Amino acid sequence: MDKKSITIQNLEAAFAGESMAHIKYRYFAKVARAAGDEETARHFEATADQEVQHAFGHLDLLYPKDKLTPARALELAIEGETYEYTEMYPKFRHLAVEEGNQAAVAEFDEQIAESKVHAEAFRAVLEKAAKRFAALTKVEERHANAYKEVLARVNAKAKSAA
Ligand SMILES: [Fe+2]
Ligand SMILES: [Fe+2]
Repeated sequence: MDKKSITIQNLEAAFAGESMAHIKYRYFAKVARAAGDEETARHFEATADQEVQHAFGHLDLLYPKDKLTPARALELAIEGETYEYTEMYPKFRHLAVEEGNQAAVAEFDEQIAESKVHAEAFRAVLEKAAKRFAALTKVEERHANAYKEVLARVNAKAKSAA
């Protein structure tokens, strides 16, 4: 595997940080609202919205839009979810068992199941999209052939008139 540049690694770390800030502020907003502090809740939510924009800015550089197709995005999502349920959460679960943290074990079990469902759903969408894409290619091909026939007829006519 080729080594990522420092800046790419930093962008990934910054993306992770902004994403975490976003979710954390949403969580803090929920806590503040439950405590009856609507003003603090709204402030957390407004800031969380800005963190999303910061994270998008990093993603623009990590996954340039001119290289990212819906199919590629689906592949990346399948990769991420598969990593979660085949490597990351099983490892975390194992260590939680060793530490005797039953709440974490239960949480990781839920996440393993959820990530698997997500990966399968993304795969189903990708397969459907691939069929759609193949059908579209056929239509394009028919159109191209029809144009070619017309062009050949026009050329033949021009030749016989000359
Ligand atoms: Fe930020
Ligand atoms: Fe997921």
